[in-house]
Amino acid sequence: MNNAHDYLLGAAPDELERLRFQDEVWEDETEAFLDRLEIAPGARVLEIGCGIGLSLPRLARRVGPAGEVVAIERNAVYARASRALVEQQRLANVRVVDGDIHTIALSSSNDPNRGAVVPGKFDLIFARWVLSFYAEVETLLVRLRTLLASGGALAVIDYNHDGVRIFPSAPAFDRVIEAFRSWYHNAGGDLWVAGTLAGALHKSGFHCEGVYPHQKAGAPGSPVYRWVEQFVRGHGPSLVAEGELSREDYQRCIDELDGQKLDPAVMLFSPIVVGVIGRAIP
Ligand SMILES: C[S@@+](CC[C@H](N)C(=O)[O-])C[C@H]1O[C@@H](n2cnc3c(N)ncnc32)[C@H](O)[C@@H]1O
Repeated sequence: MNNAHDYLLGAAPDELERLRFQDEVWEDETEAFLDRLEIAPGARVLEIGCGIGLSLPRLARRVGPAGEVVAIERNAVYARASRALVEQQRLANVRVVDGDIHTIALSSSNDPNRGAVVPGKFDLIFARWVLSFYAEVETLLVRLRTLLASGGALAVIDYNHDGVRIFPSAPAFDRVIEAFRSWYHNAGGDLWVAGTLAGALHKSGFHCEGVYPHQKAGAPGSPVYRWVEQFVRGHGPSLVAEGELSREDYQRCIDELDGQKLDPAVMLFSPIVVGVIGRAIP
């Protein structure tokens, strides 16, 4: 792909819809993960890469009117959609900031021309499906550590991409999954980031407080099957365009998926989606 300013998955209407459905599929796990964090009323929370803002109401509800949620989003289409949601739901305690978390001016910046775009310290930083776009997360973690108040937490939901499989065996589907992994890798990402995060946290001023893996399984037509199918049908053509996969293999995978629709023996297992909590070491 892809220079530092492009976003691998783009911001076409279908992708926004995919994010909405993905949020539905993983809603219970996300809510349980946020509950586990025991976010106190009045807390200050930063969400990085908020996408179309689907977690902002959850965070706003937890911090309450005395708290504040700041969201940073790099892509203008997503940031606009987040602001629309904030307005529509009248989330008075949420602010969406356009910017890249790697480069945005921080409150600790002493350059008066850059301004304090991310003001003050936060009790929690939340990142769902963002870190997997970056293989070298340590620099970012060190930066995020400077934004956390003493005892603050970094809460990440992301992939350990093992486990994704269709039974009975679907060889073209397996090739497509391999191609997705390679696509992320070649674009500077890492679909196993949740697995290596404990080590990266330890090197960046955090203690890894907990790791919570989740995997789903479902037959054709189930939410988890449709979630994976939507990714394959929506982004498979990019794999072909980027030379990660042959057109023939992609078509074989689509034929496999079409052929499975009526087969009661088919079972899809999702990749492992992991919640990881890092606690800032004072
Ligand atoms: C897969 S989406 C997930 C969106 C949202 N977190 C969710 O759970 O629905 C990843 C989002 O992270 C944003 N993003 C990626 N890198 C970013 C960065 N360096 N700074 C800010 N946002 C970033 C992308 O623009 C995109 O909106």
